[in-house]
Amino acid sequence: MKQGDEPTWSPLDEAEILADPFELFSAWYDEAAAIVREPEAICVATADSSGQPRARMVLLRAFDERGFVFHTNYHSIKGHDIEGNPKAAILWFVEEQGRQVRIEGRVEKLSSHESDAYFARRNRGHQLGALSSEQSQPIASRGELEERFARFEAEHEGRAIARPAHWGGYRLVPAHFEFWQQRPDRMHDRFFFTQDGSHWNHERHQP
Ligand SMILES: Cc1cc2nc3c(=O)[nH]c(=O)nc-3n(C[C@H](O)[C@H](O)[C@H](O)COP(=O)(O)O)c2cc1C
Repeated sequence: MKQGDEPTWSPLDEAEILADPFELFSAWYDEAAAIVREPEAICVATADSSGQPRARMVLLRAFDERGFVFHTNYHSIKGHDIEGNPKAAILWFVEEQGRQVRIEGRVEKLSSHESDAYFARRNRGHQLGALSSEQSQPIASRGELEERFARFEAEHEGRAIARPAHWGGYRLVPAHFEFWQQRPDRMHDRFFFTQDGSHWNHERHQP
């Protein structure tokens, strides 16, 4: 967004709040997808078992009432964090609409069947990248990384590439959502959702 441009914000009225935060997220996502190049970009924050937080961007590959799915290397730093402390938070921001959504909950691994299905749909270059990168581990040079890629490419020539066991999906299962809508004079709308059995309660929070 250029300097001086105002977001095309619209109020988030209590009457418009949907009872189900998944539906509200889905509506906001569709609206963002119409104007944003990469609406699937989300920040995922984890913390290790000592409590040290870490955040990084990943791509939101699917979401439904079961949760929010991203794919990664299970041996990465985020993978180790989640293994020791299976809780995480997602942050999604759409500058053009002045919107932010925070989602917090527990994290579970996708079934190997779901991860296989997603991996099979990736293009070959991405599959080879997943195979050849020991994500978050140090490597001496770019050259060494490219050699690894070329070696895996040669080894798999003419063959389908199976998903490596250390690469797959995680699903964040939400316990809380917060929807934030920018308004003038810093008088923003904020609605905080908490799960109560099969039902979601929401309350307005001060900006
Ligand atoms: C827009 C964007 C999307 C990304 N998507 C992914 C992704 O879907 N999966 C992934 O493992 N890393 C993704 N990355 C790289 C991560 O931000 C991060 O560098 C990597 O996962 C290692 O993180 P970790 O060391 O905390 O585990 C993405 C980076 C950016 C900037």
